[in-house]
Amino acid sequence: MATIVANKEFTGNPRRQLAKLFDVSLKLIVPDEPNVEPLIEPGKFGDYQCNNAMGLWSIIKGKGTQFKGPPAVGQALIKSLPTSEMVESCSIAGPGFVNVVLSAKWMAKSIENMLIDGIDTWAPTLSVKRAVVDFSSPNIAKEMHVGHLRSTIIGDTLARMLEYSKVEVLRRNHVGDWGTQFGMLIEFLFEKFPDTDSVTETAIGDLQMFYKKSKLKFDLDPEFKEKAQQAVVRLQGGDPVYLKAWAKICEISRNEFAKVYQRLRVELEEKGESFYNPYIANVIEELSSKGLVEESKGARVIFIEGFKAPLIVVKSDGGFNYASTDLTALWYRLNEEKAEWIIYLTDLGQQQHFHMFFKAARKAGWLPDDDKTYPRVNHVGFGLVLGDDNKRFRTRSTEVVRLVDLLDEAKDRSKAALIERGKDKEWTPEELDQTAEAVGYGALKYADLKTNRLTGYTFSFDQMLNDKGDTAVYLLYAHARICSIIRKSGKDIDELKKTGKIALDHAAERALGLHMLQFAETVEEACTTLLPNVLCKYLYYLSEEFTKFYSSCQVNGSAEETSRLLLCEATAIVMRKCFYLLGITPVYKL
Ligand code: ARG
Repeated sequence: MATIVANKEFTGNPRRQLAKLFDVSLKLIVPDEPNVEPLIEPGKFGDYQCNNAMGLWSIIKGKGTQFKGPPAVGQALIKSLPTSEMVESCSIAGPGFVNVVLSAKWMAKSIENMLIDGIDTWAPTLSVKRAVVDFSSPNIAKEMHVGHLRSTIIGDTLARMLEYSKVEVLRRNHVGDWGTQFGMLIEFLFEKFPDTDSVTETAIGDLQMFYKKSKLKFDLDPEFKEKAQQAVVRLQGGDPVYLKAWAKICEISRNEFAKVYQRLRVELEEKGESFYNPYIANVIEELSSKGLVEESKGARVIFIEGFKAPLIVVKSDGGFNYASTDLTALWYRLNEEKAEWIIYLTDLGQQQHFHMFFKAARKAGWLPDDDKTYPRVNHVGFGLVLGDDNKRFRTRSTEVVRLVDLLDEAKDRSKAALIERGKDKEWTPEELDQTAEAVGYGALKYADLKTNRLTGYTFSFDQMLNDKGDTAVYLLYAHARICSIIRKSGKDIDELKKTGKIALDHAAERALGLHMLQFAETVEEACTTLLPNVLCKYLYYLSEEFTKFYSSCQVNGSAEETSRLLLCEATAIVMRKCFYLLGITPVYKL
């Protein structure tokens, strides 16, 4: 049997590497079934298991096979498995599962390589070249609310994970910057500030308040309403004075949003609804020529199987809407931007809208019928953020929660906790401030990311800032503790990396090493399922495995000191990569 040398590409991805080995074996034992894919999973009894035997048996049993049952298929898979330095042993369990025990030597070598070549060598490779992540996407002149915060946090993490997996990501802020509300906003602006050039943010003050006042006037004053409606026509007709006023309002909002993005360190490129406006008519034309668009009650609509009401694409007044813009943006992303995977983040309340226009796009032949083949679209919906009362999270005044206030409070509270622990006397004011920010914002993000996004969660500063349990604070502490173990050793860790060897002899060392090696497959799973909580869980277990290791294996001053320090360093590196992918800034001392 040929020996397959561990493929460099997968040295940090045992699951992929095993899949390659079992693929060879499958092709050998059932050459007539070329489409059977290897099914490899982390194992209950071994490190991994191959689950092909039962399924394969049901495919071949009627075809006059030589095998007597699934266990025999499993045995044959083992027998034909190419020898590889990564596999220590294989055995059959139950009805034919193949348990695989990895070689500890190979595991140690993989970690040593990562320490030398960097953790980016462990990055998974997805089969997609370019993706759009449409996230955050607040509405101009309205406050960003907690729903937008969720969208921003989850979207940023997905974008980071895809980027790490070598996908080019277009991070799109699809802001609501077009629509009839601009008529009233512009008219109101003209009234309050006849000289629009001189308008500044401070003059307008609170743009949300400005929105409310103009809406009130719109509802109460028919003359104003009339003017506002004309303003929409002028704006959409391209009148430069109106366009200028519109641009001003957008700019003020943009500056407000930017403050939040800067604090959260989230990068986004704005391509708002207005951007797609010039293309809408053609797209609707294309859909009409394909026979998709019908007249209904004065509007132009697309009927979609499974939905009672149709998708309106041209309103009865001839104007375009959210759906026509989204269809056009999808067209643009597929055809102009050549994206293969388009991912949208909004709360689950908008699920129907997405499912409807996705179906319309399939009917138009823009997308394949199933949602696994590329080009592919996914709506990544998420649940509500709840307050203590189990209702939608609001402040006492029942207004929406201002994001900047939340960020301030997270930071203030984490700073107070640090001061209580006397850190203001140990650190410079800058250090204190930076750490408070890293911990506060990290806590906020992690609390959001760790729950399955489909469920809502209750917002609680006390819980997210707790230093025990599954919180960012606990994880940041765990990381800082590892850094301090390394510092206290007095060893130059960069030197050790070059020459030192790792041994995974103790059960706790081996378990920690194995978990580390499951990093790449975890990121891959989080990307393909679009579930960041998968990575959070991984990170939490990593720190648990580390704690078990540290409590049973002496590091500093032991005979295994070099190996164990390298394991500490490798753990810290994997943790930092997780933090990075989750948008959390690591701290080195706490
Ligand atoms: N502006 C919308 C809102 O605040 C979200 C936009 C999401 N993206 C999209 N392509 N529809 O609800």
